[in-house]
Amino acid sequence: MYRQYLNEGVPFQDLWAYQPNTRGVLYGSDACIDDDVKWLEQEEEKLGYNTQKPEGLIERILVTSTDENDLVADFFCGSGTTGAVAERLGRRWIMSDLGRFAVHTSRKRLIELQRKLHAEGQSYRAFDVYNLGRYERQWWQKERLEGADEKHRRVVLEFFKAEVLQNPTNPLLHGRKAGAFCHVDGIDSVFSRVEVRAVVEAVVQAGGREVYCLAWEFEMDLRQHCLALEAEFGIRIKLVPIPRELMEKNRTTPPPFLEMAALDAEAVVRHEKAWTRVDVKLTCFIPSLAEVPGKELEALKERATQSGFDFIDFWAVDFDWQPGQPFRHDWQDYRTRKDRSLKTVSDAGHVYARRGRYTICVKVVDVFGCDTSMTLDVEV
Ligand SMILES: C[S@@+](CC[C@H](N)C(=O)[O-])C[C@H]1O[C@@H](n2cnc3c(N)ncnc32)[C@H](O)[C@@H]1O
Repeated sequence: MYRQYLNEGVPFQDLWAYQPNTRGVLYGSDACIDDDVKWLEQEEEKLGYNTQKPEGLIERILVTSTDENDLVADFFCGSGTTGAVAERLGRRWIMSDLGRFAVHTSRKRLIELQRKLHAEGQSYRAFDVYNLGRYERQWWQKERLEGADEKHRRVVLEFFKAEVLQNPTNPLLHGRKAGAFCHVDGIDSVFSRVEVRAVVEAVVQAGGREVYCLAWEFEMDLRQHCLALEAEFGIRIKLVPIPRELMEKNRTTPPPFLEMAALDAEAVVRHEKAWTRVDVKLTCFIPSLAEVPGKELEALKERATQSGFDFIDFWAVDFDWQPGQPFRHDWQDYRTRKDRSLKTVSDAGHVYARRGRYTICVKVVDVFGCDTSMTLDVEV
């Protein structure tokens, strides 16, 4: 055993880690830096996120300032280093970031870590990703629309090149475009199943055959739900996310309005001697191109509808999804920078402990970082 006294050696200095190839950021003595935290030395730690910090640096902070089960928060998480180290050290964590790429990188990183911990027989916790706040929209509403939903509807319809209905017979019908009706959802709400049914009934009453439902956010499974409504009422329903570019200052030309991503999957049930195994097969994915810059849009449109699976970066399955509970990544597959292949049928062979009816949730994250989820029921 080697005992080191406080008055021996060099205590931690202000600078704990430095990026070796960066000029002009070296303060303190090289002698002290030499045996301090090393800068992203291992290739496998590098995630291609520009401002990524070494795990060793965050580990020092967490080890010296928290105990197991403490809650660690990093509201500027970037590539998720803090969460990854916290998870590894048995701390709970919360992370946030404004950037979609940051959230996407962190999510993949944490899932990979979970898989590693699982393989090593160590415990890990489920986590979920939420969209919090609608700050951009709230600011836009307050600053530019003077808080009014009516004005918001007018602006959306103008950009959508639809005619605003002056005296609508039903308050849910706001505009018309090439024979179809238009409904614009409230600026602060999530367009739900209940609303889409009410809109469809209003369209049928008004003698319409087609409706555009424009909204900022859509309830999960709404696309599938609309297929049933289309069959029931014999009308075409188009779900169109309102593009964020609408809020750009001084914008006068309309941004592209594209239909929301479509996702479909089915359960693959295999009855074996002693048990039933369940997997999930993706049957359709058409990404929304709402995040694609204008000049690349035309080139991608055809590919998106014909080879939608090419646009999936990551997908995961929760075999026993409970509304209101975090999504559990029971199985997932994703492309890495080295391996671009992706399974379209899971190989989990999931076995339920008891017979019954279960809800499976499938989550797809596309290469643009957008989430699309759907549920399907299975009886075993
Ligand atoms: C220096 S990076 C963090 C790097 C991180 N420690 C890592 O190891 O990858 C800072 C992050 O803060 C995010 N960010 C900047 N302003 C923000 C804000 N107001 N709210 C949330 N995140 C923000 C950026 O998107 C960026 O990912």
